[in-house]
Amino acid sequence: MKVIETCFEMAALCRAAERPLGLVPTMGALHDGHLSLTRRARADNATMAASLFVNPTQFGPHEDFGSYPRRLVRDLELLAAQGADLVLAPPPEEIYPAGFDTWIEPGAAAEGMEGAARPGHFRGVATVVAKLFGIVRPDRAYFGQKDGQQVAVIRKMTADLNLGVEVVTMPTVREADGLALSSRNAYLTPEERMAAPVVYRALRAAESQWQAGERDAERLRAAALAVLQGEPLVESVDYVSVVDGDTMAAVDTVTGGRRVMVAAAARVGAVRLIDNVVLG
Ligand code: PAJ
Repeated sequence: MKVIETCFEMAALCRAAERPLGLVPTMGALHDGHLSLTRRARADNATMAASLFVNPTQFGPHEDFGSYPRRLVRDLELLAAQGADLVLAPPPEEIYPAGFDTWIEPGAAAEGMEGAARPGHFRGVATVVAKLFGIVRPDRAYFGQKDGQQVAVIRKMTADLNLGVEVVTMPTVREADGLALSSRNAYLTPEERMAAPVVYRALRAAESQWQAGERDAERLRAAALAVLQGEPLVESVDYVSVVDGDTMAAVDTVTGGRRVMVAAAARVGAVRLIDNVVLG
């Protein structure tokens, strides 16, 4: 496994690598959710590449960029054990040198939910992912359904800009109690950790209403909200949204023939958790 710090060297090694090449972009602090992506990328491709980069441009001014967990040595051990061939772990100035001044501005898919709660977030995500695609030129790139809106934004960008990368989405990996794995779960106190599965429980409540025949999005939302509001450690609910799984447009009535996603963001204590389920 080669660990590379510069875009130039990464690009050269990727050009020379055996194809197909699969890329797994991450911000590090790897957990089993990330490793489900690298496992699949390893199985599907002759070359497996990953990136470890805490991307400053996708964090808001009052978010956790400074305190985001950084565990380079452990991450590299995990990636080596997964059989990664190439790992890009650049310093920030390598990705954003002085004078960097070009951005990807995603459209409607980035407007609601995380886009509304975190202005500029998807602009930063789309820009760094486009840069990673440009450096690595992968045949495939792997993303988790855990960040369902992120996948939608990246798919749309990749199609709209003819980036020529096959975007592969992998299912959300959860703890035994349903909590979606996330690097930010480490911020939860033991008490909050006990309460945190409420987010998935709320989404499952909406899902079971849907399974029972409910098609009205407002009633599905209400079912999820009731569960969240029943947990005292839920400080606030940013949103519960019922959206088209591809466009992220709000859905009023869940009709057959399209993928519908129910997504939620809530604060458990001080920790903001997001999760989603896809109906059907
Ligand atoms: P990060 O949060 O490190 O996540 C890297 C990838 O792992 C993303 O595609 C994310 O959806 C996936 N992932 C995280 N938790 C998961 C889980 N529990 N189950 C399945 N997949 C999971 O997402 C980012 O980094 C960044 O925005 C990035 C795309 C790297 C751009 O900076």
